Amino acid sequence: MDSNSDPQTARIHRLANTLINQIAAGEVVERPASVVKELIENSVDAGATEIRVWVERGGVKLIRIADNGHGIARSDLILATERHATSKLSDLEDLSGIETLGFRGEALPSVASVSRLGIKSRVADTDSGWEISGEGGAFSAPVPTSCEKGTVVVVEDLFFNTPARRKFLRTEKTERSHIERVFKCLALASPGVSFSLSIDKKLYWQLPEVDSALQSHRVKKILGQEFTENSKQITGRASGISLTGWLGLPAYSRSQADRQYLFVNGRVVKDVSLSHAVRRAYADVLYRGRHPAYVLDLKIDPVTIDVNVHPTKNEVRFEDARSVHDFVYREVAQATADTRAGSNFT
Ligand SMILES: Nc1ncnc2c1ncn2[C@@H]1O[C@H](COP(=O)(O)OP(=O)(O)O)[C@@H](O)[C@H]1O
Ligand SMILES: [Mg+2]
Repeated sequence: MDSNSDPQTARIHRLANTLINQIAAGEVVERPASVVKELIENSVDAGATEIRVWVERGGVKLIRIADNGHGIARSDLILATERHATSKLSDLEDLSGIETLGFRGEALPSVASVSRLGIKSRVADTDSGWEISGEGGAFSAPVPTSCEKGTVVVVEDLFFNTPARRKFLRTEKTERSHIERVFKCLALASPGVSFSLSIDKKLYWQLPEVDSALQSHRVKKILGQEFTENSKQITGRASGISLTGWLGLPAYSRSQADRQYLFVNGRVVKDVSLSHAVRRAYADVLYRGRHPAYVLDLKIDPVTIDVNVHPTKNEVRFEDARSVHDFVYREVAQATADTRAGSNFT
């Protein structure tokens, strides 16, 4: 027996970087939709006003994302694919009050370690773009390429080297619907950015940028006219916190909780306590077993939340969770107060 596989005699050794990244990828890259999420977030963080996404075969064969953001300089291209390398954070103080979607410097190295990854980028005021490509996280030096200002990231053959993870993928259709969900969430969170999504070479979504005052246009595009016609817009404010968005009327309730979009400072979050606050607020006006539809964005001083809870960054911790819960409950309950199942808000 290899001495290292016998727990009695195995010696401690440092794992190779590739393996470290593949292990981290287990958390960050659960499925193709996670890659789409991380890459769109990077484009948003880069200040892009246009983000185009292409996927093929449920994202397993191809995910390509092109943006017109600030780009990555030649000298930073390889570094961007290394673990814990980020332009968004320098010291511990930055971590409290983080306003970018990313900050951990983990997405690119994780994706790179489980796919064939190519990055093309050009920063403003340079004549040429630069390109790197690699397999399983190993990259060759940048070569010049022609491209527009911005960045194009191409991920091919996701999980080609991690069969265990590949086995857990669902049908193409299911993976596609996860990708669409992620795309819709991020597009709702950034109305000032134009988005498109092509699936298997067919354009599925095209969302022109909208003035945030007209954000209902985007909500209408994504949730449909029936939702906007059957919902009420709310704007609730208290000191240091606000809740804006759309609450579906009780008449528009659903048998599944599939039209619930919740953002904290523009970040897509899964937060049990906040969803509970909304559910409770609707309890009196919905029949049992029905679920409300809503799009809600909670804005709160970033210093009072901790976004560094999980590698996927879709959980947050509130300094004062109780009062945030109560604020959300109050705002939603007030808006739904005069309604009963089947009736309209007044
Ligand atoms: N689309 C992009 N445009 C510009 N810079 C990018 C883009 N994607 C990644 N980067 C750069 O690469 C770095 C590493 O990205 P990532 O691994 O996702 O970590 P993080 O987003 O946490 O910083 C980012 O900090 C950023 O500087
Ligand atoms: Mg990132």
